[in-house]
Amino acid sequence: MRDLLPAEVAVAVAGPADWSGDLLPAELATLGERVVPGRRRDFTAGRVCARRALAALGLTATPVPAGADRAPIWPSGVVGAITHTRDYCAAAVARAADVRAVGIDAERHRPLPPGVRRKVCRPDEEVELARLPAGTPWPTVVFSAKETVYKVWHPLVGTWLGFADARVVLDPATGTFHAEIAPARLAAAPVPDPPSAVTGRFTMDDDLVRTAAVLPHR
Ligand SMILES: CC(C)(COP(=O)(O)OP(=O)(O)OC[C@H]1O[C@@H](n2cnc3c(N)ncnc32)[C@H](O)[C@@H]1OP(=O)(O)O)[C@@H](O)C(=O)NCCC(=O)NCCS
Repeated sequence: MRDLLPAEVAVAVAGPADWSGDLLPAELATLGERVVPGRRRDFTAGRVCARRALAALGLTATPVPAGADRAPIWPSGVVGAITHTRDYCAAAVARAADVRAVGIDAERHRPLPPGVRRKVCRPDEEVELARLPAGTPWPTVVFSAKETVYKVWHPLVGTWLGFADARVVLDPATGTFHAEIAPARLAAAPVPDPPSAVTGRFTMDDDLVRTAAVLPHR
């Protein structure tokens, strides 16, 4: 994830011990007691990574609880995002003075089931994907890019954004994606100046598809 984000964003990726690391009291309260072990594991790795990334910004022992919408509650003056998928977890944070928002996402490197693909990819995106080189699960990259876009959008705007509400174009030559937000969602946004577009980067290895984006200040 580090290579996808600019230097002003602090990034931490979970090591093996982080999945069973310690949580701070406010984080334990967020997690609750009645959770399955897999959820505890994912949440723990996310918080350990989040606090390690915050420490790189000079903020130590800062808890990261979550709101009712499940979004992490970052310390004042910080923006960030968390992702976890099987055996991979990362957190990315930055000073709000440096960037408006950060989004990150990781997905398994495999094709989306057809039913999921129909929900994720708009017909106009499918036309574009058909022009890309065969052999890569491009819809999975679009899916990850949209999850990253949601993590940029939701903390700033606070409203729902569906998969059809962003049009993603991938550029494999540069490893970048560009997402345009549907005008109706922009018009309905309850905040001034909602982001109308998000540009990010993607990378793939045998295991994972990763995407990340920062929203710069105007
Ligand atoms: C919230 C969502 C984006 C999470 O993505 P995911 O691939 O399922 O899971 P990830 O592991 O990558 O991310 C989970 C983390 O996202 C973060 N998250 C959850 N809700 C969030 C929100 N509303 N805003 C920002 N971040 C959020 C949390 O940190 C969560 O981990 P945690 O609960 O352990 O803290 C996804 O579940 C979702 O609701 N998607 C539907 C909306 C969407 O993607 N629309 C596309 C718009 S173009």
